Parts: sequence; structure tokens; C-alpha cells
Amino acid sequence: MDGRIEVIEGDITKLQVDAIVNAANSSLLGGGGVDGAIHRAAGPGLLEECRTLGGCQTGDAKLTRGYNLPAKYVIHTVGPVWCGGTRGEEKLLESCYRRSLEIAGANDCRTVAFPAISTGVYGYPMDLAADVAVRTVKSFLKDHDKPRKVYLVCFGQQAFSEFQRALASAV
Ligand code: AR6
Repeated sequence: MDGRIEVIEGDITKLQVDAIVNAANSSLLGGGGVDGAIHRAAGPGLLEECRTLGGCQTGDAKLTRGYNLPAKYVIHTVGPVWCGGTRGEEKLLESCYRRSLEIAGANDCRTVAFPAISTGVYGYPMDLAADVAVRTVKSFLKDHDKPRKVYLVCFGQQAFSEFQRALASAV
């Protein structure tokens, strides 16, 4: 277990891993934030493949190729919009991480990188999101050999320190 989760700071589109996760919306047809950055870096082939997928429900995930990205695959997941925590947001966010890891494992991905799903436009508080991410990834890795390594990629110092705190305090 130890060492299989790493918190890093940086741009997820630059990472040479088997799969990067995209914080998409339910249309899977692109948007701003990390979704926009991933589509720009991957090139138009990504949107073409996304058009064939028929969207994705909140809490679920779907896989495409990575096109011009250094990553082989993109796993598109749809995080919950934060509504104060009373609309099942926590369970839905857990489900995003779990479904993405299941899909990564089923496609033989050894290394997977996640952005901080829902913490941008969707408004999920960074501290709470970091706890959900660390706890869910940790519990999945305990029961599964694949993926071998998961990177939690933080965009900026605030995200980085919250995720480091969450990793250090996770049981
Ligand atoms: N690498 C890593 N993390 C990033 C990058 C990057 N290049 N760019 C932004 N982030 P957001 P959401 C961080 O808003 O909240 C889109 O329009 C960012 O700082 O991208 O799940 C979709 O189409 C934040 O911490 O995703 C949806 O409509 C985190 O990624 C909606 O936004 C997530 O922020 C999804 O909202």
C-alpha cells in the first residue's frame, strides 16, 4: 500500500501515465477547467470519440484513448455539483474515484492520475474533496493489485497542501 498513492502538483495533461482522469460534465462534450485543457492537449480525435459515448451519469466514468496526450487513455468521470453536502455529493464523489479505478484496472493501467474532481466549477470544498479522494483511493488499492500507482494531481498550492494533509492524516 505505502507509496502507491502520491500527491503531486502540476498540469495533468503533461503526465506520462497509462490513464489520466478527466473531470467532465455529463455530456462528455468538453468544457472549461481541466476538461478544456485535456481536450486542447489531446486534439480533435478525443471529442470525436466522446461523441460516440452517449454521455455519462454523475458518479460514473467512461474510457477513451488519449490521442495526442502522453497518457494512453483518458477516463472521463462526472463529479457532483456541490449543493451544501445535502444531495449525496460525498457518495457521488466516492463513486467517481471508485468507478475510474475499476475501469483503469480492467484496462490494465498500472499508473493513473486524478485531478481534484468537482473542486473547480462544481464548487466542492477542497478540504472535504481531498479527504474523499484519499480515503476512496486507499480503500480501493487495499483490495486491488491494479492500478499499481495513483497520482493525485493538484493544480496550485492550496490544493497541494490540502491533499498532503489528507494523505498524512488518512488511516
Ligand atoms: N491539471 C490538473 N488539475 C487542473 C488542471 C490541469 N491542467 N486545470 C484545472 N485543474 P474543474 P469540476 C483543477 O473546474 O469542478 C468543466 O467545464 C482545478 O484547479 O476543471 O469537476 C467540465 O466540463 C480544480 O481543482 O472541474 C464540467 O462542466 C480541479 O481541476 C465542470 O467543469 C477540477 O476543476 C466540472 O467541474
